[in-house]
Amino acid sequence: MAEVPGLHAPADQPSAIVQQFDRFVVPTYARSLVLVRGEGSYVWDESGRRYLDFGGGVAVNSLGHAHPAIAKAIAEQARTLIHTSNLYYHAKQGELAERLVRLTGPGKVFFCNSGAEANEAMFKLARRFGHDDGRFEVVTALQSFHGRTLAGIAATGQEKVRVKFGPPLPGFRHVPYNDLAAVEAAITPATAAVLIEGIQGEGGIIPARPDYLHGLRRLCDERGILLLMDAVQCGMFRTGRFQSYQRILEGSEEEAFLPDAIAMAKSLGGGIPIGAVWIRGPHADLLSPGSHGSTYGGTPLACAAALAVLETIESEKLAGNIRRQGDLLAAGLREHTASGNRILAGVRGFGGLLGLQVTQPAPGLVGKLREAGLLTVPAGQDIVRLLPALNITDAETQEALAILTRCL
Ligand SMILES: Cc1ncc(COP(=O)(O)O)c(C=O)c1O
Repeated sequence: MAEVPGLHAPADQPSAIVQQFDRFVVPTYARSLVLVRGEGSYVWDESGRRYLDFGGGVAVNSLGHAHPAIAKAIAEQARTLIHTSNLYYHAKQGELAERLVRLTGPGKVFFCNSGAEANEAMFKLARRFGHDDGRFEVVTALQSFHGRTLAGIAATGQEKVRVKFGPPLPGFRHVPYNDLAAVEAAITPATAAVLIEGIQGEGGIIPARPDYLHGLRRLCDERGILLLMDAVQCGMFRTGRFQSYQRILEGSEEEAFLPDAIAMAKSLGGGIPIGAVWIRGPHADLLSPGSHGSTYGGTPLACAAALAVLETIESEKLAGNIRRQGDLLAAGLREHTASGNRILAGVRGFGGLLGLQVTQPAPGLVGKLREAGLLTVPAGQDIVRLLPALNITDAETQEALAILTRCL
């Protein structure tokens, strides 16, 4: 391979890897550390410094780093059958689909590779559903985030993602979150679906209220509209239940609520890219042969990884673990707020999806926490997100609390 000039920098200059990124990688992200290795809830940078990872690859590394069950599943699958295309059957995709259906409710699953693609499949489902009556509009929430495709940014309720990408794809209306009357007012004869996150992630860890969820289900049933949920960030046991709405509705007629479709990705593969859409029984055959697809969707390798993630969560009782660790974290942080801390204004969310509302710019605080050895993720200017692996230990939770207490 040809030597790239200037790649090996002297010690007082930015790392060779950073220089290589500057020269060859499109700068869509503001990056910080150069990470070289991970194990469990820790990652190491190129200087050998260790960090406690509570960013989790933005809610992806559900079992932390280098988990033996994922490594084994991937290695075995790679030696057996990595990819087949969706022109053929293979065992892992069917097995994973059955597992997701058992965890959710009667229906079927479409596989893709990312959260944006999962939402894209739901938009196409909505258009198929409404097509014969001339309906195509989807009502979504302000402050939502639904991915970076053209439909994803049109659906997202934040203007900043659309800047200089106009004209936006038509067919999306945005209304305030947790406001049932606003959804009702936005419904027109062209409305085919309503789409919400069970807990808004990029919008700042804002959970849906139980009465909002039940109200949306009732409204969608009355008007013959699909109720779609984007669980890309808040699903897959992150809250201590498989889906966030199950956690939110505990003790509030949980069994009376089921959406019509749910988009999943992120934590599902524990780091291997996979997206999925669960579609409720009556609508599960709307996307007929030839109407939609994905070359890589549900490839044996990705499905083997997702199966290993789900099996480990079940066998190691990690849903209960993350629920308890999240409660410990939230309680520890709330104590801090109660004792008059002026930077931490509040704590929201559940389990491994917590948002700390802060009174200083969140990106700066995230930088300070990183300096202190804790990786977190900002959401906007006033929220610091904690997105740890579902298998964090008591000791890691205490370590994170100690760093947070010190920095806040
Ligand atoms: C709620 C939600 N939906 C969709 C997406 C897009 O997922 P992806 O980046 O895998 O396309 C994200 C990513 O942050 C998300 O948080």
